[in-house]
Parts: sequence; C-alpha cells; structure tokens
Amino acid sequence: MRFVDIIEKKKQKKSLSKEEIKIWIQGLVEGSIPDYQSSALLMAIVLNGMTQEETTNLAEAMVLSGEQIDLSNISGVKVDKHSTGGVGDKTTLVLGPLVASCGLKVAKMSGRGLGHTGGTLDKLESIPGFDCFLTTENFVRQVEKIGIALVGQTADLVPADKKLYALRDVTATVESIPLIASSIMSKKLAFGSDTILLDVKFGEGAFMKTIEEGKELASSMIKIGKSLGRDTRAILTEMDQPLGNTIGNALEVIEAIETLQGKGPEDFTELCIASAELMLLQGKIVSTKEEAREMLWKKIDSGEAFEKFCEVVREQKGDVQALHDISLFPQAKNRTELKSQKTGYVVKIHSQNLGFLSMEIGAGREKKEDDINPAVGLKLHKKYGDFVEVGESLCAIYHDNPLEENWKTRLLESFEIQEGKPKKKNMIEAIIEE
Ligand code: URA
Repeated sequence: MRFVDIIEKKKQKKSLSKEEIKIWIQGLVEGSIPDYQSSALLMAIVLNGMTQEETTNLAEAMVLSGEQIDLSNISGVKVDKHSTGGVGDKTTLVLGPLVASCGLKVAKMSGRGLGHTGGTLDKLESIPGFDCFLTTENFVRQVEKIGIALVGQTADLVPADKKLYALRDVTATVESIPLIASSIMSKKLAFGSDTILLDVKFGEGAFMKTIEEGKELASSMIKIGKSLGRDTRAILTEMDQPLGNTIGNALEVIEAIETLQGKGPEDFTELCIASAELMLLQGKIVSTKEEAREMLWKKIDSGEAFEKFCEVVREQKGDVQALHDISLFPQAKNRTELKSQKTGYVVKIHSQNLGFLSMEIGAGREKKEDDINPAVGLKLHKKYGDFVEVGESLCAIYHDNPLEENWKTRLLESFEIQEGKPKKKNMIEAIIEE
C-alpha cells in the first residue's frame, strides 16, 4: 500500500485500520515516511477526527515505537498521575509523598517546564543538591525501598511522540482530541504503572477551552487506558487562575512543603486531597472516598506525609535541612509588591499571562536550552473572589533584575477587578471514574 492512499482515506473521512496506523508510526520513526506526508495525515486527522478504536490503536502503536519501563519487580500497586498542564501546578510534589505515605508505590518520571508552564524537575532541582537523574535500576530500587522516586526521563520512551509533537507544533495540528489523547496516553502506558490518574484542565490557557471538550478528552484517554488494562480515571479542573498562590520553582516547592504539613492554600490542598482520594481507591488501599480522606488527613496531621517527602529528598541527595529551614532555598535579590490601582473583587486572573511574565523574569525558559533562576517568581496575595483596595498588594514579585514598567503593567492587567462579588466556584468540575 502506498502511504498516499492512507492519507487519501483519512481525507475521505474513513477510518484507518490498526495495520495502517502501525505502518505510519513505524515509517515515521524509521524515517521511511517523509515529514510532509505525516504532516498531511496529521492535518486530515485534525479536520476529520478519529474513532475511539483508531485513537487507541494509535496510542498502542506509539507505545511500541520505543522502550517500555518494566515496574513488575516492584511490589504493591504502582500508581501514576498526569496533569495536562497548569500555571502553578505543583501537585506531584504533594501527591507523590502523600499517597506513598499511605502505602502506594510512586514511580514518577517528570519533565522540565517550557513556555508558560513549569516543570516538576525544575521545581525539584531548586532543592539544594537534589539529583533528578537515577539509572533505571536505582530508580526501581528506590521505589521498592521507600515507596517513591521522583526523576527525569532517562529511557527513550515513545520516540514516535517526540517526532509527531515536533511536527504538530509547526503545522498547526496540536489541538485535536485523538492526537492529544494518544500522545499523553502513549507516554503513560510505556511506563508500567498499574493505575493512571489524569488531571484534565480546561479554560483559558489550557488545550481544552470548555468543560465539554475537557470531558471528551478525559473520556477518550480513560478508554485508551482501560482497553490496555490500566485503571484510568480523571479529574476535570478549571484553569481560570493559577493553582495555589505561588509561581516559580523554589516558591512552589516551599508551598508544597506547607501543603504537606496541612498549611497550604485551600484550592491547591483540595485538588491534592481529591486526587489522592482517587489514587487510594485505584490502588485499593481503601474502599470509600470518606475512608480515603480520613487516612490522608491522618498522614498529613501526623507529619508522615511530610516525612515521606524528606525521605525522597534524602535518598536523592537533596538538602533535607532546607525543607525545615526555607531560608536555605535560593533567594531572590529583591521583593516588590504589585499594588492594585482599583478597588473591587478579583473576578479573573489570567494564568497564562502570569506564566509568561514569570518566565520573562527567569522562572521559566523560552527555549529548551535556556537556564532558569530557581529563586524568582510570584506569590499571589489575592485570588478569585477576594476583595482588594487601591494600594493593597495583589502579589509579591521575587526578582533579581530591575522590573520594566511595561512588564509591571502587563502583570497588573492580568488581574481583572470588578465591583460586584463573583459567585463562588468549584475548581473541580467533574470526576470521571468510568
Ligand atoms: N501534552 C502531550 O503530551 N501531548 C499533547 O499532544 C498535548 C499535551
């Protein structure tokens, strides 16, 4: 079969067979199918969609394109989680130790931040001495020993996704539910955990703009996971403001420590607890959400959850002292308060803007090879629904270099302030378990 016939078939809105999808992914990785043909097929998929069966077959073919991690030597239930990306999203730092302290095994590979979103690895590396790179053997050994390891990707998982994502990025073919679902799930499936929890974000700055689209993406990913034998569930969260109060690497780790000690911000704590409840149910540690919640708060109140974080840091050569004395984290040279020019209620915080603005002062990277500054970032004093008066601080800016006026103006514009008090909203819009 000529590859052009496969493109033609999708152009005519027909379904591709498992074999045709396999031919594409193999040819893509080996280089026998040129990028212009893959790009044409990608565009046909964006325009004409894929059935669930095609989407699952695509994810499966992508998994087979590279290495797979075998976690079968680790005893107990191995759990994984994935967030589709949010500004201030530091959930892994809390969820990992929290559920590990309840007896689940957390073998977690994370990535770096790019653009307006932060990456767990960069956050972890703001802990002095922390080593994110273990050999696969040491990684597995650590999970068996203390129940958790938090590392960067070492194995060559899903090379097909690397190629496809690079093509999608430059051919306006990122936003497609089948392509996003297969891309995310292939990476989760190549990693041998038993359960997968997905945090699907929707709203401004997220891939999915509406709750309906978010539900559709979640449902497609759950079907892929289940058809390949993994207990997969999703939590749907609206991204109409940053998660928690901090954006920036060291600042976010400090907020994660506070949350593990039961002193975290309300929205972030609630998301961590709700996600951990689902993970405990998936791992069959408990049989009801109430039981899960009780166990989780016990682990937080007794200090066991925080102690588990200290254990990971100790094992991975980080300075545990810094977790007890936050002045040992990298410190920014300056702290400037951003004063409100209006009186009223905060009705929206444009998180994507805050992500980009934080990147510009050094908290993130524009290009892969850029360095980041672990100390800089933002700490919000006002969030959705809060009242603010003229002259009161909306947020603190931690920075090393002088701040440009234009930058401050854009930061102020990211906070929408109006007269009327907005309705209380739930950040968690839905939980999809089936
Ligand atoms: N994240 C991924 O890993 N893949 C996508 O396609 C979109 C978000």
